Amino acid sequence: MTYLLALDQGTSSSRSIIFNRAGQIIASAQQEFPQYFPQSAWVEHDAMEIWHSQLATIKRVLQKSGIASQQIAAIGITNQRETTVVWDKKTGHPICPAIVWQDRRTSSYCEALRAQGYSKTIQEKTGLVLDPYFSATKLAWILDHIPNARSKAQQGELAFGTIDSWLAWQLSEGQLHVSDVTNASRTMLWNIHQNCWDEDLLKLFNIPAAILPEVYPSSHHFGDCHLFGSTIPIAGMAGDQQSALFGQACFQAGMAKNTYGTGCFMLLQTADLCSQSQHGLISTAACQVDRKTQYALEGSVFIGGAVVQWLRDQLHLFTHASDIEALANSVPDSDGVIFVPAFAGLGAPYWDANVKGAILGLHRGTQAAHIARAAIEAIAFQSAELLFAMQNDSHTTITELRVDGGAASNNTLLQIQADLLGIPVVRPEILETTALGAAYLAGLKMGVYSDLDECRSLWREQRRFLPKISRTNALGLMQNWKKAVQGLRQI
Ligand code: G3P
Repeated sequence: MTYLLALDQGTSSSRSIIFNRAGQIIASAQQEFPQYFPQSAWVEHDAMEIWHSQLATIKRVLQKSGIASQQIAAIGITNQRETTVVWDKKTGHPICPAIVWQDRRTSSYCEALRAQGYSKTIQEKTGLVLDPYFSATKLAWILDHIPNARSKAQQGELAFGTIDSWLAWQLSEGQLHVSDVTNASRTMLWNIHQNCWDEDLLKLFNIPAAILPEVYPSSHHFGDCHLFGSTIPIAGMAGDQQSALFGQACFQAGMAKNTYGTGCFMLLQTADLCSQSQHGLISTAACQVDRKTQYALEGSVFIGGAVVQWLRDQLHLFTHASDIEALANSVPDSDGVIFVPAFAGLGAPYWDANVKGAILGLHRGTQAAHIARAAIEAIAFQSAELLFAMQNDSHTTITELRVDGGAASNNTLLQIQADLLGIPVVRPEILETTALGAAYLAGLKMGVYSDLDECRSLWREQRRFLPKISRTNALGLMQNWKKAVQGLRQI
């Protein structure tokens, strides 16, 4: 038997999952790691803590499964994207905390670039909206603020990477400084049309080319790992959302998935068409199996499942995140409450860093259950806006939405989602599609799978949620949501 080891390095935890050839989970291990909020709008990770938590889960999953490392055909890495790490190539130590994708410290830098008229060029070259979310301004901040960083970078002494690069470096004991196209496409330094680092953007952000990783397709033999008693090829690498699109077997143009994690990330496969959004979405590289460039349209919502954590940890409305469903179902509707969880501004389609969150429509009879229900609805409203924007951009009819991520186990959320969208929302048997995508990418390279059709045949539907309300009713609800958002944007 051969197995595949997927490393899923997310924003709040590191996970390792062993899959068999049929795409079934044999064993998994997970470990949370600390989040640091040193100042308002700053979010940091310790890259060393990320590595140690990832390493611990690899050791644990191997032990739990009883599978020898010799039986692991390949490792696939998938990761939180955009989070920026810079390390010293000699010592292997990060030169400062990693700046996390949620960090907004470079907002004013982005505003200044916008004022100078750079938004259009950046969008044309990278497919992205000029925003602190992406790595370029985070990397520029590090080179500007950490003593001697820029000169060391110019001399080739430093390495920049997103988390995929950082893990590959650690797994290869400093032999690999690599990334894949999906991760590179989130840096705002990568030209998605020419498939290369963009010299004009490197100049604009003052980034020395010597600091950048080598970029390869997502399914590629990047190098080997010798840490676990045998030689294991590292053969898959992709940003987590593109990996989930792949794990959901959305290989054909027009297929879409939504992942309900900390945030919500909806991706529409557009295959070889790189369409430029007119509705606040971004174009991004989809997983590349051979040299053929593939694209996706993406909508990123910054606060998805995180709103449930907020109700649990800050308002203490319930003990476990999963308790929200029962609480929300104890009332028939939200009784006019609208919750806009703009805790980190609003991402797509608004890209408004200045909006603050709000709970509207409260009255004396409002109960915790109404707020809980409004929070679930907010996740669905935000996601619905993404899908409508996608339909407008791509002029295609999206016929169903495949879903995954932690909150996709919430039936109430998925029913509300189907009601708002007016199309079936489909949950697969394996919800770990992010990790599965990385396993497929690695398995395809090492011959565990012969082609995409084989991976496609492994996808299984677990439950289908069909719309139950009229379109008029759904559009009325969407209108109320939009009014609430517009109102907040004017404050
Ligand atoms: O772009 C950020 C995204 O990759 C984070 O994903 O699953 O760690 O919240 P997640």
